[in-house]
Amino acid sequence: MSAYGVKIASTGSYIPERVVTNLDLERLVDTSDEWIQTRTGIRERHVAAEGETTSDMAAAAGRTALDRAGISPADLDLIIVATLSPDTFFPNTACYVQRKIGAGKCASFSIEAACCGFLYSLDVAASMLRGGGFKYALVIGAEKISMHVDWTDRTTCVLFGDGAGAVLLERVPADRNTFLASSLGADGNYTHLLRVPAGGSAMPITHEAIDQRENTIKMAGRETFKLAVNAMAGAAEEAMRRAGVTIDQVRWLVPHQANKRIISMVGQRLHIPEERVYINLDRYGNTSAASIPIAFDEIVRADRIAPGDTALFVAFGGGLTWAAAVVRW
Ligand code: ACO
Repeated sequence: MSAYGVKIASTGSYIPERVVTNLDLERLVDTSDEWIQTRTGIRERHVAAEGETTSDMAAAAGRTALDRAGISPADLDLIIVATLSPDTFFPNTACYVQRKIGAGKCASFSIEAACCGFLYSLDVAASMLRGGGFKYALVIGAEKISMHVDWTDRTTCVLFGDGAGAVLLERVPADRNTFLASSLGADGNYTHLLRVPAGGSAMPITHEAIDQRENTIKMAGRETFKLAVNAMAGAAEEAMRRAGVTIDQVRWLVPHQANKRIISMVGQRLHIPEERVYINLDRYGNTSAASIPIAFDEIVRADRIAPGDTALFVAFGGGLTWAAAVVRW
């Protein structure tokens, strides 16, 4: 048992200005607003400006979280950025963020666990804080996922959006711990369901790979859908069991925002009433690792959570990966 606990001290988010509506997409591919809304729940998504990077968005979200907590960037001991759309393969995106927010020479690295990246990062940061060597950690989920999107593929281009969300984690004495429990998992037998094939060592970028659009997101939507519901419900149940919390004690289920139908089915499996399931994918689409911290920041800013209330975060993504965490506000 560590002498230390962890709490979320503050939140922040950043959404790029440019809005791409379903009607805009009707002009690009053979789709319709009606199909997209019925099958996914998405009305519009935001897309980063051409020169705007993942670290620009991450830094903006991170600065807001620091300002709200009244903590100086110089006080940070750790920055973790969860992303599958890094500024560069290396250096890692957190190093760009460190410079942009004016932090000191704190440990800075990125984690890639697709849409679960933020919850994986939260868990890693919490463990590092509990170890005692770090006091403040900025944990950010940030994506310029539009860089991976094939804007000629109607089966994927309608789904995704860009943005960033952040939380400031603070080490506290064990009796003030509010990061109650988590559950992380993955099944590498399903790597083929959801991926960007080219750009890594398995298929380096070549002219041919680009011509065949192998550098863009490929997804087996229907198969992913089925696995997602089970993976999310299972992870959520396990995290609640470890936290000693039942679903009636959960004020907000904050799910990864991939598809409204997936979210509804997970909510039903967990027996949580709809009004306690947070949904904002109608406005942002699937922002991958950024979706949960953006959603939680909206809840906090709108004063829709009170001190002592419990939130259950749950996600799934490429890998396949899954993750859940139970936190008290
Ligand atoms: N507009 C119109 N028609 C479309 C579109 C579109 N944008 N996209 C697909 N269709 C068509 C298909 O071609 C198909 O036509 P066909 O029957 O003539 O072949 C038909 O619609 C049905 O397609 P399905 O793929 O079966 O549709 P489904 O109801 O499964 O919805 C969707 C597709 C929305 C992708 C759904 O499967 C889904 O949300 N899956 C999960 C995806 C997900 O959450 N991924 C996580 C990504 S997160 C990460 O880690 C990056």
